Formats: sequence, structure tokens, C-alpha cells
Amino acid sequence: MDYTLFRNANIFTPIDRGTPAAGDDQDELAHHSDGALLVHDGLVVAVGAEPEVVAQIPPSATVQERTIDGRCLIPGFVDPHTHMCFAVRREAEFVERLKGTPYLEILAKGGGILSSVKAVADSAEKDLYEVTRTHAASALRFGTTTLEIKSGYGLDTENELKMLAAIGRLSRECVQDIVPTFLGAHAIPPAYAGDPDAFIELLIRKMLPAVLEQGIAHHCDIFCEQGVFSIDQGRRLLTAAKSLGMKVKLHADEVNDLGGAGLAAELGACSADHLLAASDDNLRAMAKAGVVATLLPATAYSLRKPYARARFMIDNGLPVALATDCNPGSSYTESMPFVIGLAILNMQMSPEEALIGATLNPAYAIGMAEKVGSLDVGKQADFLVLDGESPAILAYHAGVSPVVEVYKKGEQVI
Ligand code: NIG
Ligand code: FE
Repeated sequence: MDYTLFRNANIFTPIDRGTPAAGDDQDELAHHSDGALLVHDGLVVAVGAEPEVVAQIPPSATVQERTIDGRCLIPGFVDPHTHMCFAVRREAEFVERLKGTPYLEILAKGGGILSSVKAVADSAEKDLYEVTRTHAASALRFGTTTLEIKSGYGLDTENELKMLAAIGRLSRECVQDIVPTFLGAHAIPPAYAGDPDAFIELLIRKMLPAVLEQGIAHHCDIFCEQGVFSIDQGRRLLTAAKSLGMKVKLHADEVNDLGGAGLAAELGACSADHLLAASDDNLRAMAKAGVVATLLPATAYSLRKPYARARFMIDNGLPVALATDCNPGSSYTESMPFVIGLAILNMQMSPEEALIGATLNPAYAIGMAEKVGSLDVGKQADFLVLDGESPAILAYHAGVSPVVEVYKKGEQVI
């Protein structure tokens, strides 16, 4: 079949102006209530009002028609921050947190991320692959057609490469586009507890070159936080990664305001993620430098922390993206509809801002905007059909995913 015409669709899509959508632009979607989408070779050929789209079908084309039955059609979600490659869940730790033990205290006692590190060391690559595949398949059912997956539970060369190999295999075998990220600086390994600088040196001298030689991850991330890595250590690692041609990002100001947002601005990072505690000045510096603010409301929800200040960020010109943070500790969810619901109801984002935060802006944050993030001509036909009248259904039908059909490159996959 040559072309596919998806007709009778109520289409909502971000408008890609060549940069992440910021300020008022983040509140503006293109809307075609009697819309159609023409797809050829997995790519969008035309989108808009149905008669205009039909007029663009080449006379010689064979066309398969599919009706969307007047339902809402939006781009597939892009989840730009996940740790869904891990070995075992940490449900008992969740219960410990419910009883009042803080997240960083559990880590300081050798639990948390460090317990996931032990479990990954004891796992084979194929087991990590299976767990990650299950999470990615679940994310697909919730409408995630593109996602980032980090390493970070290895913390030594062998186990970081093992994680990246599992993620790399998944990216070749699964339906979604996957962007792997190297997060070797996720926690200080116990052997380096007294000398984290030596671990940063190891990352720079040995681990980064090994990751590049493996050729799977082209992004580098670090967790800058009290009791984990300092801003200065972040600066050293990410500067080295940049000089090797990697794109950089960081876990910034998640629990304490260390100045991670300022470092992201200084380095021209693709994104700074979390930002619950980031200062006004550093957020303004990020806006000036064009860094995407990736917010993870399911993490604030699970850690019972105040949400990141999305309104302040958008009002100050910062492009905001949303992510699940899917991980066994601070946020165990694959559901972008849940994240969008939290953003709308608890971070005062409009449905339009949240949809752009779940599609176009994260596509920019992970370097995928040329292919995905909006239904623009030339991009992949990755889209979702929602059981609702508009993107507001994502918050309105609380706790329920309104994603009823998922299409990747024009093919129905759910
Ligand atoms: O983004 N903060 C650091 N990393 C993750 C949590 C990872 C874990 O607890 O396993 C986060 O919240
Ligand atoms: Fe994270």
C-alpha cells in the first residue's frame, strides 16, 4: 500500500518552529477538527483540514483509507528521562519511605540507587534486557513512542557497558525509538566513598572512552546532589564528555539547590532535569541559554515533595518538557498520561502546555526533534488516538489512560 489517509480526525499537534516551544508558544497547538493525516513510507506527507490533505494525494498513488471516527489524534509521547533498565524493584524501600525515612538517607545507608547497583552486578545482560523490554512495552501502551533510557546502576566500566548493551539491543528490537544515555555518575560507588574525585577521574579517563568505543550512548548525564556529586565534579565530567563530542544533561537541584541549573546554562546542556529546588536566577540563566527544563512530577508525587515551579519557568521563557523518570526508587511509572495529569492539576500547566511538554519539547531535549514530537510534514507518523474530545482528557479522566490506539511510523502497534 502506497499511501495511508487517516481521515475524520480531531487533530491536535504542536507547531515546530525549529526550536523548543517557550513562553506563549508552549500554550499554542494547531487544531484541525475535521482533520486528516496523509502518510507515506512511515512519514507525514500532509496534515490539516481533510479537503486540503486529500488534494495533496498524488494522482498515481494507491491509497488506503482509515477513519479515526472523529476521535482526538495527537503525536506520540516522547519520554526524555527514564531509568527503566534495572534488575529488581525496590518495593520494601518504598514502604520505608512511606514510614518517613527520606530518600537520600536510604541512599546514604547503602540502599536506594546502591541496592540497584548490587542487583545489576548480579544480573546478566539478557535479564536486564527482559526487564527493560517489559517496561518499554508498558510505556508503549501508555502512548510513549520515543524514549530515553539511562544506564547508571553499573557504576563500573563492565556493568555500565552491560546496561548500555541491553538498552542498545532493545533499541534495535523494539517498536519505539530509544535514546540511550550514559549515567555512570549516578552515585558514588562504596569503594570511592572517601574520594569521589578519584571516581570522576575514572569516569573521565576510562569509562567515557569505553562508552564511546561501544558506540551506544551519545549523551552523558550526572546526578549532582548533596551527598552525591558536587557542581564542580559535574562541571569536570560534563566538560570532558562535551570535548569528546557527547551531548550533556544533568539531574539538577532535585532535593537541594546546589546550582545544577546554573551549570546546565553554563555548559549549554540539552536539558536540566528535576529542578524542584532550583533558584530563580539559575532558571533565568537556563532560559537565556536555551536549555530545556525537564520536569518529573511523578517523582515529586512519589517523594511527597513540592512540585517544580512550571509556571515560573514558562512565564520566564523556559521551554518545559515532562518525563516519567521511570525508576525503581523515586518514581516507578511508565505512564505519560499520569505525568501529564499531574502537570495539569498540580503544576498549573494548561493542557496545551502539558501536551507540548510531552511531545515537542522532549523531542528537542533528546535530539530527536527532526523525526518526532509533532505531526509536521517529513516527521515520522507517530501518533495516538485518545478516547476524548481534546488533550484535556489526559487529566480529566484521572488515573485512566485515554490512549486507545498507538501508531509508530504509520503502523498501528497498539
Ligand atoms: O531521577 N535522582 C537520581 N536518580 C533517579 C532515581 C534513581 C533511583 O532511585 O533508583 C531520579 O530520581
Ligand atoms: Fe532520574
